[in-house]
Amino acid sequence: MAESSFFARNKAAITLAVLASAGAVGAYWYYAQQQEQGPSDKDESKKKRSKKKKKTTEELAETATPGDDQPPYPVNSKKEPDFSDEQVAELTDAQKEDWAVALKTTGNALYKLQKFADAIKFYTAALRVKEDPVFYSNRSACYSSLDDHENVIADASEAIRLKPDYAKCILRRASSYEELERYTDAMFDLTALTVYGAFNSKSVEQRLERVLQKHSIKLVEEQMRNRVPQLPSAVTLASFFGAFVHETSPEGVSAESTGADRLLWEAADAIYSKKAEKYDEIDTLIHKATTAYEDEKVTASSPNATKATIAYEYAVLTAFLKYDRETLATVLNRAFELKPRARTYVVRALVNAETSTMDLLLSDFQKAEEIEPENPDSPYHKGQLYYLHGELDKAEACFVKAKELNPQNLFAYIQHACVVYRKAQFDDAVRLFDEAKLKFPTSPEVLNYYGDILADRGDTPGAIKQYDIAIRLQRDLPGVGVGATPLINKATLLQRDGLDENGETADLLTRAAEMDPKNEAALISLAQLKLTQDKADEAVGLFEEAARLSRSFDDKVLATSFAEATKMQLRIRADPELTRRVNEILQSHAAGVLR
Ligand SMILES: *[C@@H]1O[C@H](CO)[C@@H](O)[C@H](O)[C@H]1NC(C)=O
Ligand SMILES: *[C@@H]1O[C@H](CO)[C@@H](O)[C@H](O)[C@H]1NC(C)=O
Repeated sequence: MAESSFFARNKAAITLAVLASAGAVGAYWYYAQQQEQGPSDKDESKKKRSKKKKKTTEELAETATPGDDQPPYPVNSKKEPDFSDEQVAELTDAQKEDWAVALKTTGNALYKLQKFADAIKFYTAALRVKEDPVFYSNRSACYSSLDDHENVIADASEAIRLKPDYAKCILRRASSYEELERYTDAMFDLTALTVYGAFNSKSVEQRLERVLQKHSIKLVEEQMRNRVPQLPSAVTLASFFGAFVHETSPEGVSAESTGADRLLWEAADAIYSKKAEKYDEIDTLIHKATTAYEDEKVTASSPNATKATIAYEYAVLTAFLKYDRETLATVLNRAFELKPRARTYVVRALVNAETSTMDLLLSDFQKAEEIEPENPDSPYHKGQLYYLHGELDKAEACFVKAKELNPQNLFAYIQHACVVYRKAQFDDAVRLFDEAKLKFPTSPEVLNYYGDILADRGDTPGAIKQYDIAIRLQRDLPGVGVGATPLINKATLLQRDGLDENGETADLLTRAAEMDPKNEAALISLAQLKLTQDKADEAVGLFEEAARLSRSFDDKVLATSFAEATKMQLRIRADPELTRRVNEILQSHAAGVLR
């Protein structure tokens, strides 16, 4: 289908659910996002004060070049601090203060001269005299300039231990965590910063989002390296293969054929079966068929070259569905070495739709039409391509042609109606849906998509009515059809419009997950529900499972980012200091509202 994925369509809703799940922290987020100027008055005055202090320190630093005056502490021949712990132990508090300030001032001056290694020596000496978060902070700034991120983290952590809301250090540590790809730690710090209300909260949030994205991409890339490619859910397979002309006996192969031909027939039979249990065999059957043709030493000039090509076409499509790019490239090449037919070109355009240029894709469709002008697969998939690129008039013309050439392709009827709806011709779209309903009276697909359009228009009761009929039709259908999709769509709509009074969504989603356990949309919706029930742990597992099952890289990343954001919220909630601060802010906010 040309519509955006379930994830993309529901991203905003899921994100809000993740945020809200964290209880106080989530509420704080809502609050923070509503505030135009982040910090409160109190923070403002603090800022001014610290600004003043900074000025005096800077003035000091300017005058105090190392070695100008006799420092209060003992030095060696290089004018570096040189004293023992025993000497420090004998100092009065006032003397300690004196030494520490002098050491720090020289450290600052050296920092300004970009002599970071020297500055570190002075800050280290200052810390031996007096443990002060500012000295740790200053030294961590030097390490940061030296790209020594391990030490930045160590020193910033000491500073934060002494002063938990030390925003400058939290930010510095977050940057080093990010450099070292310790993304969850970076996210934790950035979230803490938004709670402490320091810095421009918009820019911190943007950084947070960026780190979450990087982290999720890294996780997905690791998973992809270790994963065993898997076919998607039965529903996805049914709609994917359902959009092709159903080949009952490609090139004359049949149940009576033998050898490789018999295997090809079995593969085709499974592919077009609309039966979940047959889908489980697709992979094995296709592999057996291609291997059998290779065993017969098939070449482009063999009489059975076209049959072997068809077996490879199926292999291309399953590799595409499994997101197995390496296999895809190999089997696609082999199909073109043999004897490509019209559909081979259509298949190539389809699997390259996201990675190739429009010109190349269109030239494949053109080639298909030259070989076989009446091939219905070509206009249908070309229509999809135009639809994706927003060329709605061209898409519509293609779907009209696809219907003409293959009146059995119900997806051509649905897509035609959808494209007309996208052109803002609602009445015409309704007419086309009515036409499709008449032609395919038992198809739950038509009603499901009609429901989607009504939901999009804001006609919730109308949409629910269509989903309900689709659910009934699906129940009476022997094949896969839309599977759990109308159940999920209805549940999502009830949630969206806040209509879930009797816990109906929980029931719908549980049924959906039972019916189609590999359906990632069902898992995502169920995860959202768990979040509202304050079962974040379960939600994390469901998001992760959905990420595993999703086909495209982007969907995997999105589902992973929901899982990771939820984990982060749990980690924040487990931090007593942050939780205390959040509750404080929320209480003072509530008090302000009541006043
Ligand atoms: C050291 O800390 C002070 C106080 O926070 C600050 O004004 C100064 O810029 C810092 N110097 C360095 C090198 O970080
Ligand atoms: C396929 O072609 C090869 C080479 O012409 C031949 O040896 C083999 O028997 C053929 N197999 C089938 C199933 O037609």
